Amino acid sequence: MSKEINEIIDKFEVIFRKRDKSHHAPYFDQIEKNNLKKCIETTYVSYVGNFVNEFEKKISKFVGSKYAIATTSGTAALHLALRYYNINNNHEVLVPSLTYVATVNAIRYLNSIPNFVDIDNENLGICPFKLEKYLKNSTKKINGKLLNKKTKREIKALIAVHLYGFPCRIDLLKKICKKYKILLIEDAAESLGSFYKSQHTGTFGNIGILSFNGNKTITCGGGGMVITNSKQIAQKLKHLSTHARLSNREDHYHDEVGYNYRMTNLSAAVGCGQLKKIGKILKSKIKNYYWYKENFKKFQSMKILKEPKNSKSNYWLIIGKFKNTAERNHIFKSLKKKGFGVRLCWRPLHTLKIFKNFPRDNLKNTNKIYSQTITFPSSSKINL
Ligand SMILES: Cc1ncc(COP(=O)(O)O)c(C=O)c1O
Repeated sequence: MSKEINEIIDKFEVIFRKRDKSHHAPYFDQIEKNNLKKCIETTYVSYVGNFVNEFEKKISKFVGSKYAIATTSGTAALHLALRYYNINNNHEVLVPSLTYVATVNAIRYLNSIPNFVDIDNENLGICPFKLEKYLKNSTKKINGKLLNKKTKREIKALIAVHLYGFPCRIDLLKKICKKYKILLIEDAAESLGSFYKSQHTGTFGNIGILSFNGNKTITCGGGGMVITNSKQIAQKLKHLSTHARLSNREDHYHDEVGYNYRMTNLSAAVGCGQLKKIGKILKSKIKNYYWYKENFKKFQSMKILKEPKNSKSNYWLIIGKFKNTAERNHIFKSLKKKGFGVRLCWRPLHTLKIFKNFPRDNLKNTNKIYSQTITFPSSSKINL
């Protein structure tokens, strides 16, 4: 290994001497404890309660969507979004391969088929230029339906993912979806607090989703949110998330097969506490980026990825990009051994046995980014 690689490892040890080395720890204070105490004292611990309503209202205000429906997880929110459009086994859904497995699992819950498309090297989201070329070459419009020429299945939707908090070129993706009449769903699970051209990620498409898992920018323990500007979508998804029970009837009447996907008041109580300090958390995460950048600026073999153009990133995770994969591997193993919370980038999903036979474009950028990157310790506590 080169001298520089050992210097990078030494630098980590020096700068993290008195700092939080975990990959991404949540930040709590007394507010969450007080809120949880209120739930227990009032006995409102389950799906009904003021915190659920308050959390929804505050999130919709924060992201600028008309409606927000709190769910048990981001995965559940994605499942509901696809379910709303009756996505099924006759359909294909365009999706990046470089994403967390939940994005594609939600497609598979409905027996629909993921069709993997490549990413852009800078923003790590779907590359609109490669997408357009792929659609031109591999699809055909028949009777108003966009069909995959090879599989003959209809291409119905696209899930745009704002990976690691970096907004993708959602304006261009939206244009392409409009041109080809493809539904646009945004997986903003990792990008709460990230904006593209001053608009919050997740609010460009037909439906967007957020996650409040323990490792996210703010957390409810576990939780998710559907965000939308459509009253009809909001009402329907709230209904589906509560077992499709008709609340105006006393006789436990369910008018379709629904899901137990409603967020609990306990989770929302934590979420409301977290929202009180989201500004502070987001500021500290931007500081993390500048702190890493400053400390590692002299090294040629690795650079810290910066937010894409026209964007404001939440810097959910700090990403190091290496020129050389062997050096990347060496740093990863060494830092891990020394107790640093480091992770490889999400494994490209087309390489998993469970998804390997699904249609895909050439995924050159996806494979390259996967082989070159590490996500580093990124807790807000590092620079709070
Ligand atoms: C890109 C992406 N999509 C979806 C999810 C699913 O969210 P959840 O863990 O809340 O189900 C996650 C994270 O966990 C994610 O990172």
